[in-house]
Amino acid sequence: MSFTAPKGTFDLLPPDSETYLAVREAMARPLRLAGYGYVETPVFEETALFERGVGESTDVVTKEMYSFVTRGDDHVTLRPEGTAGVVRAAVQHRLYAGQLPVKLWYSGSFFRYERPQAGRYRHFSQVGAEALGVDDPALDAEIVALGSQAYADLGLRDVVLLLNSLGDATCRPVYRQRLQDFLRALDLDEETRRRVEINPLRVLDDKRPEVAAQVADAPLVADSLCDECRAHYDEVRRHLSAAGVTWQEAPRLVRGLDYYTRTTFEWQHAGLGAQSAVGGGGRYDGLSESIGGPAFPGVGWALGVDRTMLALRAEERELPTPTSCAVFAVPLGAAAKDRLLAVVNALRNKGIAADLAFGDRGLKGAMKAADRSGATIAVVAGQRDLDAGVVQVKDLRTGAQKPVAFDDVVEHIEKGLT
Ligand code: HAM
Repeated sequence: MSFTAPKGTFDLLPPDSETYLAVREAMARPLRLAGYGYVETPVFEETALFERGVGESTDVVTKEMYSFVTRGDDHVTLRPEGTAGVVRAAVQHRLYAGQLPVKLWYSGSFFRYERPQAGRYRHFSQVGAEALGVDDPALDAEIVALGSQAYADLGLRDVVLLLNSLGDATCRPVYRQRLQDFLRALDLDEETRRRVEINPLRVLDDKRPEVAAQVADAPLVADSLCDECRAHYDEVRRHLSAAGVTWQEAPRLVRGLDYYTRTTFEWQHAGLGAQSAVGGGGRYDGLSESIGGPAFPGVGWALGVDRTMLALRAEERELPTPTSCAVFAVPLGAAAKDRLLAVVNALRNKGIAADLAFGDRGLKGAMKAADRSGATIAVVAGQRDLDAGVVQVKDLRTGAQKPVAFDDVVEHIEKGLT
């Protein structure tokens, strides 16, 4: 019997795994420069947190949660997203009583029981950012700009930012009613009719042609915004323009999570087929209260690391990743191995990436391993070299080789590499 990774999951192996780390790093860098602090919350939370926070009518909560009852009878769920947990932590630790805004970023694994397909997995990776405690449109613009910066830093050219406002507790209910009135008059199937009653905004997102055609003339939330929301949205756009961020207005953009208010946005990539959203987010001014916290507004996003990898591949972008090996040591015989292990350790202590041909292969096999390692220098030694107190230093790019005194070899390599 043998095992494979569970359906909808995959293993991340070198060299792709290096690119993954580089993507996460590129996403985090603009955040660190803007004063966001790193936060880690548990990978599982009480199930009720997501039911109340993400919303009981969302697909995420009704169909996609990995929920289970523990041996101690606790109802817990593997986190399907990060915002609810971060806000829970901020409320629990009374961060609202300190310096505002509270700026946090995170990176980790998330879980949704989805139908797997290209770009849609059951275990996936996000880098996220949340700015809490201040309702300032300049903060919405800051966080959006930081996400766009990450994609620019990754060298992606085909990422488009879509922007919308979903209104607030004053104007959204009015819009919801208008939209429901419109949708109830359409010829829709049973399930979609149910959705009209529970979560009508999601019907706007229905990709099936027969539904999409019918909702083409649906009222838009932009036409229902109250004065405060309109002014807020205008300010967000003014700040985005000032920051040099480009976007497309997306009056039909609705997001899959219930907590959003006002500013919502998504980054999409044209080269990814159906799963085109590489990242998304928005403002969520009522989330804290919905999970039992005080009034504590927030805005944030999460960028999908897996889909960003696919976007890089679609654009044939290679990210520079640190060379895993600069020097490769090839010992011929047990005594040479002892000496070269000492050289390898000395190089590593100087911060130079070095490796050795383990497993006592012959010269040919070991030199092949040296080539494959990506190293530019090989250090070769056999008994005759040891007797002469030297090792052979070979430049793997030119093939040039020369003996260097054993005591000088680390310094010699260090000079050659810098
Ligand atoms: P989301 O739009 O559900 O938002 O997810 C953000 C990103 O995570 C998506 O754009 C996508 O790239 C990636 N993603 C989501 N589901 C999957 C999946 N099954 N497989 C691969 N990638 C996936 C959120 O999660 C919100 N918490 C974002 C947020 C933060 N809003 C405010 N603050």
